[in-house]
Amino acid sequence: MTCRICGSSTETILDLGSSPPANSLLASPTDYARPFPLVLEHCGRCQNLQLRDCLTAADLYRDYLYVTPDSPQLQAHYELLLRALTAERYVEPTSFVLEIGSNVGMFLRYLQPRVRKVLGIDPAANICRMATDSGIDTICDFFEPRSAELIENAHGKPSIIVARHCLAHNPDPHLLISAAASLLTDAAYLVIENAYALNTVQQNEFDQVYHEHMFYFSIQSMSALLGFHGLHLVNALLAPVHGGSIVFVAKRRCAGDYAVPAVEALLRRERASLTPHVFSQFRSATESIRASLRSLVHGLVADGKLIYTYGATAKGNTLLNYTGLTHEQIPLCADSTPVKQGKYLPQSLIRVVPEQEALATPPDYFLLTAWNYRDEIIAKVRQSGTVRSRFIVPVPHVEVV
Ligand code: TMP
Ligand code: ZN
Repeated sequence: MTCRICGSSTETILDLGSSPPANSLLASPTDYARPFPLVLEHCGRCQNLQLRDCLTAADLYRDYLYVTPDSPQLQAHYELLLRALTAERYVEPTSFVLEIGSNVGMFLRYLQPRVRKVLGIDPAANICRMATDSGIDTICDFFEPRSAELIENAHGKPSIIVARHCLAHNPDPHLLISAAASLLTDAAYLVIENAYALNTVQQNEFDQVYHEHMFYFSIQSMSALLGFHGLHLVNALLAPVHGGSIVFVAKRRCAGDYAVPAVEALLRRERASLTPHVFSQFRSATESIRASLRSLVHGLVADGKLIYTYGATAKGNTLLNYTGLTHEQIPLCADSTPVKQGKYLPQSLIRVVPEQEALATPPDYFLLTAWNYRDEIIAKVRQSGTVRSRFIVPVPHVEVV
């Protein structure tokens, strides 16, 4: 296949079979969601990792179910992120912040009292309504050159554009970057946050591979992508959210620009770590997690134990469908998102219920399909008085805690 960043040919490094789009939860267990392949490829030229088969953004985002959870971990992340961006003066009290893929406006709500102006843009109509209702001015559209021009005409050019966990959600990343570049003045910054390929691969996070994640960015692939649009990387910060994320800070290439030394250090580590040997370890670890999880769950069920999953996450669907676990072993999934409750996970047909309902009949084990919120979920379950449930953590290795 062809690299969608640089056009070179790619090689397959992981094949997870087929799964329906992860956020296509079903209204009824007799509904059908069509599976599509989940195959990860690597480009040896720009070090891009990409999904081989992409669905169109219009297919994925017409009616969207991901609502940013109100999580202490995410709030702490917003605080740290703003502190880091402020320290470098990428953000100032006079800034106009445009956020792409702003979802229900959780991050902008945090920024609003701290900057001059915030504006969001998100393609999902149901999600935009929730943002607007909460007081965050949000445009319902895809961010591309056409909508960027409308934004400039109506609001002027932003001082900073933020795109958190959304650049990988479109088969053509050049579209978003070229639109952002068209809005950037020489003094403005583009901040892109994404799961970091190095964490995905080194921590065996194969379940991060789902149809919305069409790219797994590294410093190398991001630099290649930015270079096509006259932009370059000036900083990169690591953050623990979503299993290990990276925050790229880019700007229009200008005389006198320099990248902070941290970028070079991260790059050296990355070059030593994203190697064919590491990809092959990633593949064997993935297969071994599948085998251990299957045997653990089947063994527990045979012993009469009750298991629920915690978090109707996109990665949970990859995990369940790749391991072949279904409602036959795991009857319920607890999740705090009202739009997911009462629905069924695609293919595994596990029914999603509110957390309180799951905690009212606590199982012997929760399979943590939202392992990125591991500590806060365990604390929440303990606080509910449910002391007997144990937790199965699937990555980086299957572990019972
Ligand atoms: P994410 O890992 O993609 O952010 O998805 C997290 C999912 O887990 C989301 O559907 C909300 C759910 N969740 C809970 O049900 N309870 C919680 O305490 C947290 C933090 C998340
Ligand atoms: Zn490439």
